[in-house]
Amino acid sequence: MPRSRFLGTGFAVPDRVVTNDELSKLMHTSDEWIRTRTGIQERRWVREGETGADLAFRATGRALDAAGIGPGDLDAIVYATSTPDHFAPGNGVFLQRRLGIGTIPAIDIRTQCSGFVYALSVADAWIRCGQYRRILVVGAEVQSTGMDVTTRGRNTAVIFADGAGAAVLGPSQDERQGILAFDLHSEGAYAEKLWVDSPGSMYHPRVSLQHLAEGRHFLDMDGKEVFRHAVARMPESVRAVLAAVGHSTADLSLLVPHQANLRISEMMQRELGLRDDQVYNNIQRYGNTTAATIPIALDECVRAGRVREGDLIVLTAFGSGFMWGSAAIRW
Ligand SMILES: CC(C)(COP(=O)(O)OP(=O)(O)OC[C@H]1O[C@@H](n2cnc3c(N)ncnc32)[C@H](O)[C@@H]1OP(=O)(O)O)[C@@H](O)C(=O)NCCC(=O)NCCS
Repeated sequence: MPRSRFLGTGFAVPDRVVTNDELSKLMHTSDEWIRTRTGIQERRWVREGETGADLAFRATGRALDAAGIGPGDLDAIVYATSTPDHFAPGNGVFLQRRLGIGTIPAIDIRTQCSGFVYALSVADAWIRCGQYRRILVVGAEVQSTGMDVTTRGRNTAVIFADGAGAAVLGPSQDERQGILAFDLHSEGAYAEKLWVDSPGSMYHPRVSLQHLAEGRHFLDMDGKEVFRHAVARMPESVRAVLAAVGHSTADLSLLVPHQANLRISEMMQRELGLRDDQVYNNIQRYGNTTAATIPIALDECVRAGRVREGDLIVLTAFGSGFMWGSAAIRW
């Protein structure tokens, strides 16, 4: 069975920059509070009418260029998002339509912050079993339209943001190169600790004026609980995926963590005993873009030369569900 490897990566964010000072005009918060608690200095939010599929389309164009192939060379799309443009169908088909490609399968993965890692695991399995050869894996989100931008929603509104990252995967010619292993978990006991209650099919109608008045359509988070689990689960998962491929943290060239909160990344780095050059963070500029953080960060690393052939890379994520996981890659 061939391993799957990255053939190209790309990302796109909206051009609208939202600063901490701008948020301070909408709610009781401050640049100082946001920087010290989250590390975020600014983030990108879509303009009216700009969609997740738009961002994904732009990110895909860059990933395809980097891979040196066109949309018509793709065999499948795996699209991770927790914020599809519509309740149904998923965003994979909207992206497929924008790319103008026939009838290839296009599935959505809805595992929130760990979406890109889960999406990679699906694409990897398809490539390894020979079902498809060239797979587009996307992580894209529009969180800003689901934020309560008043003081009531300040614990999420200052964190979450919009963006898209994409990667083209294909079979590796060299069995030592490519995705080596995954470590994936979920724990439904904490499903309501970071969630969007409404719209939901358990309600009739799925969303009501009462839901809207109560703010149940906004992303709701128990920040302390998320923090507590994230700083334990991500290091645990990084160690597990490295152990599965016979390595330790000392062998790690680069850890690309989900950009949840800079404090979470820093605690994880200390816990794992990693040097600064072994961990990449860019939450300062983009905030937490959920399923998009890892592919955005990965593309920045690739283009900046921080990822080189032969490097051992680990991607790790934790978020809503709770769901978490890691991927170990020999680049
Ligand atoms: C959200 C988070 C930054 C809050 O930091 P914290 O130190 O836990 O703060 P608390 O939730 O205890 O809140 C402390 C105070 O700050 C207030 N606060 C919350 N958000 C605020 C904001 N944006 N600006 C100013 N004050 C804020 C709270 O209301 C609370 O006030 P109170 O003491 O008067 O009730 C933190 O819990 C966190 O980072 N959690 C993980 C979030 C995350 O990574 N989510 C993504 C996972 S994928």
